[in-house]
Order: sequence, then C-alpha cells, then structure tokens
Amino acid sequence: MARPGRTMGRPMAEDPHAARWAHLREITPVTRRFTYLNAGWSGPLSLPVVEAMKRRIDLEATYGPVAKVANEDKTAIVARLREASARMLGADADEIAITGNTTEGVNIAVNGVALKPGDRVVTTSVEHSSGMVPAYWTRRKYGTEVAIVPIAVDDGPGAILERFDEALSPAASLVILSGISYSTGGLLPLAEITRLAHARGATVVVDGAQTAGHLPIDAHALGIDAYAVPSHKWLCGPDGLGMLYVRRDRIADLDPVKVSGHAAASWDFAGHFEAEREKVTKFELTTTSTPLMAGTLAAVEQYLASGPAAVWDRVRALSRYAEARFAPLRGVRVSGAAGEATRSGLFLFAVEGVDPAHLVDYLQGDGGVIARSVREMGSVRLSLHVYNTEGEVDRVAELVERAVAQGVPERYRGQARAVEA
Ligand SMILES: Cc1ncc(COP(=O)(O)O)c(C=O)c1O
Repeated sequence: MARPGRTMGRPMAEDPHAARWAHLREITPVTRRFTYLNAGWSGPLSLPVVEAMKRRIDLEATYGPVAKVANEDKTAIVARLREASARMLGADADEIAITGNTTEGVNIAVNGVALKPGDRVVTTSVEHSSGMVPAYWTRRKYGTEVAIVPIAVDDGPGAILERFDEALSPAASLVILSGISYSTGGLLPLAEITRLAHARGATVVVDGAQTAGHLPIDAHALGIDAYAVPSHKWLCGPDGLGMLYVRRDRIADLDPVKVSGHAAASWDFAGHFEAEREKVTKFELTTTSTPLMAGTLAAVEQYLASGPAAVWDRVRALSRYAEARFAPLRGVRVSGAAGEATRSGLFLFAVEGVDPAHLVDYLQGDGGVIARSVREMGSVRLSLHVYNTEGEVDRVAELVERAVAQGVPERYRGQARAVEA
C-alpha cells in the first residue's frame, strides 16, 4: 500500500524561489499522499486549477451552459487562455489555436503541409509515437521519404546538429521533432535545427508535449513554424486540452485537415464558398469543453506566476541532484541524456537485470512513488517538478537500493507490463 507522503526535503535556502515551490507543493494535494514523479505522463492538479474548473461547472449548472452570463464567461476564458498561452509560448494570441492535445496539434500541422511523392520528411530516433506515426503516415499517404536522425543519450547539441545537417541534405519538406525527448529526457537544439531546416526549405513542426510548463519557450525567437503542447503534463492542467502555435506567416499555407464554420470566410446555400486563410481559428472545430479551458487557463497562469526560467532552473537542479544520488549506487546506471546541455527535469535510471516495469510497480506499491518505465530505454523515468523535493529523490534512491540488495518482491514481478504513455 502507498504510504502517506511526508513533507520531505532538505532546506532549499540557496534557492530564492524555495517559498514558491513549497507553496505549490502545499496546494497540490497528491503530494500529501504520493511521491508524484510522473508529470511527463500527466501532471497533478493543484487546488486553483480544480477550483477554476468547479467554478465553471457550477456556473453552467446554475445558469445553463449558454445563458448570456455563461456565454460571456466562456468568451472571456477563451480570450484569456489564448493570451496566456501566447505569453507562455513567446507568441501572439492570434497565433494560438486551441486543440484537444499535443498529438492533435502535431497532426494539424503535419497534415497541413502540401507534400508529394519523394519529399523528404525528417524526424528523430527519440520521438514519441505522436511524432513517428504522423511522419510514417505521410509516407503511406504521399510516398514521402522518411529520414530518421539517430540520437544517442550521450549526444550533445553539436553531434545532433551534424546528423540533422546530413539528414536534411540536399532539401527537405518537413521536420517533425520533440523539444524534449520523452524517452531520453534530452533537450534538442531547436533554434539551430530550425535554422538548418529552413535553409533546406522545410517546415518545422515541434512536438512540445514534454516542454510546456517545463522550460521557457520563445516560439518567435526559435523561428519554428508550428509548436504543439498539452495542458495535462508539465503544466499540470486537465487532460483533454492543448494549444497549437502556428507562426503568423505560415497560417495561410497550412491547410486544415478537419474543418468547420471557422474554416470559412463566407459561404451560402447557392454554392458560394470562400475559405478562411489567415485566421488561426480555422484549425479549430466547434464545441469544446469550457471547464477544461478554465482549468488550463489557471494552470498556465500558475506556471507563468512561478516564472518559466525559475521552473527550468529548479527542475534541472533536482535532476542534477538525482544524478549525484543515483550514479554511485551499486547495480544502478544513470541512463538518460547525459550532460548539462541536454539536461531536463526528466531523469532516467536502469537497474541491472530488473525489468523497469516491475520496478515501477514496486516503487508505487511499496513506496508510494509514482513514476513510469520507458521500455525503449529499459529504464525508469522520474519527472522531477517544482513540487518535488530532494528528500523525495533520496527516498526513491533508498527504495532502489533496497530492490538491488533484496530484489523486487515477487508480487511485482511477472505481471503484465505497465501501460506507458
Ligand atoms: C513527446 C510526446 N509527444 C506526445 C505525447 C502525447 O501527448 P498528448 O496526449 O498531449 O497528445 C506524449 C505523451 O507522453 C509525449 O511524451
């Protein structure tokens, strides 16, 4: 059984934001019950996010979902969500489409590019299925040539760029890649890759599932064409919502794959139709969940109030701490992206001879630690967020040491593999 969580950790006196992180821990109820280390899959809701969703649900229940008061509230939520998301992504509000999740955003952008047989689509060996399957789908649908840039855990930005340079030659149409790899935890040099890709004529679509709420993003400075993010991972918003940034001058070129009235500039029943070209809302469909938008807005505002740079510093400090703590352990290998240039809040380790899915079950069952295994890496992945503490990292390390010394208890072995998302 899970043990109740404790407020653990060493004093963080040297961190000027320590009080903010303690506050976020306090208002994130799951931290009282579990050592929650899985924001890379789905982050925990804080009380303000829950309250924002409840407030909207109560409003709908009290007045009905489309009374004037509810409609005005919805309009305000949508506008504020676009503005807050734009601030988070380094973009303008009229470059932000509201989607259902990252994968939908990636699909909108990838399928919006006009491709033909033989066009080169470049991706990497550290992508999630949400990047790989859309890439392969272009091959299936148009006969594109899919090039996969191999990325190893110990590759630094220089090596990654060299391989991209090779894969992009002599010309490419599309690049699909993650900002932070879900499998290695490594940061990819997006600005430089985008420069190389644009020089070869390619559209760059970023799978930002592991980035929003994790590291500062400046889409305008990066020059990226499209950048898709979710609400439910590092932002700790509800699931079922996401945002897609499309660079203003690319909106007209990208053709929406699913269309609604938002994709029409004008139409009538006499056969007249004119497509909307310039508005990012052409990528949006009809009714979406306002409670989810309200929750996402609260999550984005909470993140912005923390300060993206401060969050990034803190999660990487925790990752550094985890590396120092795990590296000396007998039978344990630090197995994720290595080095400061690629470090993120995702920390991976492997235990010799132990199935990571069994280890994950053991950590949860015996220690109240929620983590995930990454099959491709034979590893356990810890998502270290600002509500986590060094003490929690110590606790996981102690549990792992125990598993190395005594083995993972029989009850956690031989089960079906844990689901991975
Ligand atoms: C890199 C990456 N892309 C896409 C996804 C899927 O995200 P979503 O559920 O927002 O579509 C995940 C989920 O783990 C991921 O890690």
